[in-house]
Amino acid sequence: MTAKIIPVSPFDLVVFGGTGDLTLRKLLPALYYRFHDGQMPAGSRIVAVARGALTNWDYLAMVKEALAKHVRAADLEDALLEKFCACLSFVHLDATAHVGWDGLAKALADGGDRPRVFYLATAPQLFGPICQNAAAAGLVTRQTRVVLEKPIGTDLASARQINDEVGKVLDEDQIYRIDHYLGKESVQNLLALRFANSLFEPLWSAAHIDNVQITVAESIGVEGRASYYDKSGALRDMVQNHILQLLCLVAMEPPAAMDAAAVRDEKLKVLKALKPIVDGEVNSKTVRGQYRAGAVGGVAVPSYLDELPDGPNSHTETFVVIRASVENWRWAGVPFYLRTGKRMAERISEIVIEFKAVPHSIFPVSVGRLTPNRLVVRLQPNDGIQLFLMSKDPGPGGMRLREGSLDINFADAFQVRYPDAYERLLMDVVRGNATLFMRRDEVEAAWMWIEPILQGWGESGDAPKPYISGSWGPTAAIALIEREGRTWFEDSRH
Ligand code: BG6
Repeated sequence: MTAKIIPVSPFDLVVFGGTGDLTLRKLLPALYYRFHDGQMPAGSRIVAVARGALTNWDYLAMVKEALAKHVRAADLEDALLEKFCACLSFVHLDATAHVGWDGLAKALADGGDRPRVFYLATAPQLFGPICQNAAAAGLVTRQTRVVLEKPIGTDLASARQINDEVGKVLDEDQIYRIDHYLGKESVQNLLALRFANSLFEPLWSAAHIDNVQITVAESIGVEGRASYYDKSGALRDMVQNHILQLLCLVAMEPPAAMDAAAVRDEKLKVLKALKPIVDGEVNSKTVRGQYRAGAVGGVAVPSYLDELPDGPNSHTETFVVIRASVENWRWAGVPFYLRTGKRMAERISEIVIEFKAVPHSIFPVSVGRLTPNRLVVRLQPNDGIQLFLMSKDPGPGGMRLREGSLDINFADAFQVRYPDAYERLLMDVVRGNATLFMRRDEVEAAWMWIEPILQGWGESGDAPKPYISGSWGPTAAIALIEREGRTWFEDSRH
């Protein structure tokens, strides 16, 4: 069974970086699924643009190979695949050049006032030039929307420069800065949990919550992206965008409506309330790590340093923990422990809301430890919600307590195929719904908070702490939380 769909009207979508990994692995499979489910109308046109001189035929062969890898075999029906491919064309173009745009103009001819989406799956420094060249070629219409892939820059100055350059030819409401985490079903479920239920809201504050842990742990390494990743690191690659967006959804005030302005206004307030980590605090409030050889899921894996094309010398972090604080009435004094890393013990993304301990125990020590209640929002895999509660251990012979949980596993509960995040987000762009995209001020506020951390690390000159692949990061990450009398969720359950 697939989820309900709302059909959209025909559109044109141009993917710059049309032969790149993101396009072949994520965007085209997502579009295929929307076509398969009847959401993408047959008259729509997808134009892949790239510098390579491929023929249409070569390109379609490349696409078919990618779809065979990234779409479930049962969903890849020959006749449908041919119809989908009929919507696709390839244009050979150096989009950083002022000339040579005729082929693309021709591919987009007679589009009328249908939505025209430019998806920039390219390096961020090309965003400005591509938009400006497209505008000079007369291809930016009022119906044009541009999607900017993360990362938007590498720091505040470069993010501002990109936003300025793109903003010269497109209005802010035409710019869709994508963070695919916001398209994940489970992340939107967090909005449902918070704002479609009245149960948790009265408890959702420093009065009842002791700490929040946000973990995005990956078991994969840098997967052939070492040359990009080594210039980026976990802070820029994951925290500046995905993790801060998750933090915003946990911490924001209820927006007045589920619309782009209201939701983004509230997220921005959270970003602005983040306490800057300055004046030498990086050492006590952050931990950086870098993976070494080890084993993940029983398979031996090499050290990060051995995966680098230019030799084993790098201070780039593949793991980071940050103790963040949101300085406002709701969250005063509540630590937000943010953690992400590659080559960790398991692939797990989850948000743990740990409530305060009971103020006084009426039970004798012999009943066992009273573990504070925890609400765990599991984002991936097996997304769902678990509420940990203390209950009586069944049986006669006195009172003993133990922790049990109420569990909802969404995939099991709703029995639907979960669409990939890009499926939803691409259709949102076509529909002109920017609620799940980042506004310029959000991206810049996120960089404003990240930058002092980068500076602090640079000034300290320390190398990231090594950790064994397949572990939960360096021991310093455990020490950071334990110094404050707390434990990471996975440790507290053992
Ligand atoms: C990307 C990062 O944005 O997100 C990658 O650049 C990371 O390094 C990926 O692996 C994680 O996404 P997901 O959806 O697999 O959790």
